[in-house]
Amino acid sequence: MTVNSVRRTARAKVNLTLHVTGQRADGYHLLDSLVCFADIGDFIDMREADALSLSVDGPLAAGVPTDERNLVLQAARLFGADKGAAINLSKHLPHAAGIGGGSADAAATLLALAELWDLPLPEDVVRLGADVPVCLSPMALRMRGVGDELSVVPPLPELPAVLVNPRVAVETPPVFKALTQKENAPMGVVPECADVGVFAKWCAEQRNDLQAPAISIEPTIQDALDALEPALFARMSGSGATCFGLCENADSTKELAKTIRGKHPDWWVVATNFS
Ligand code: C5P
Repeated sequence: MTVNSVRRTARAKVNLTLHVTGQRADGYHLLDSLVCFADIGDFIDMREADALSLSVDGPLAAGVPTDERNLVLQAARLFGADKGAAINLSKHLPHAAGIGGGSADAAATLLALAELWDLPLPEDVVRLGADVPVCLSPMALRMRGVGDELSVVPPLPELPAVLVNPRVAVETPPVFKALTQKENAPMGVVPECADVGVFAKWCAEQRNDLQAPAISIEPTIQDALDALEPALFARMSGSGATCFGLCENADSTKELAKTIRGKHPDWWVVATNFS
């Protein structure tokens, strides 16, 4: 069926765990991460057009490039097709934030263009970013290799959560560079459990190996973790600076988000659910 406009949500990616287990000769790091997705995201809207174009709007559009640096345009180029589309990216997620904003946008663009142009997905999408493959199937997955090896995990319990970004952009390469110990133990076996409390305890036994190096570069991340202290469990996602706290239920997420917003009105704070 031919379509002439498509809308997709680019959900925020969260690394519940992020173990760095080694480094390849080309400098890329080997990861072992349990990835899930929040129920909030950016929106990609596109329609048929003669040329390829990108506009960016939304509450967090400031500072997002609209030129070829934007992964949305790089994703479109990967099709190698001489086709046009007018794409709008509505930015609701902070960028350079460890929640895959750029990768999620790129993945949503790939899926939307495949539909609009009636073409198969391009190969080797990991070239766009380590998180692009996982963002193509936004569900809980174990991510290994450099982000390209995905495997299914047991169903996760309901995960009410609060996301906090202290409004500092953190670039990923310096964080990996600040990690001195590159070979670390892999993630444990993901438990099959229906209780967020039990799951939070398991998470606490795992790690994000990038958390300490990111805090050494941007100490405000520790403030975000401290603010999430009342949660069952709190940790940084990706290379930061966004942190998440798992909570008992939806009411406790709303309450915690309200408290944090009250103390830090300039931070990005969202009560959400992970799945
Ligand atoms: O792929 P992405 O754009 O997210 O990666 C940004 C940077 O993070 C890379 O250029 C690289 O320096 C580092 N990185 C890495 N190993 C990975 C993923 C990213 O060293 N598996």
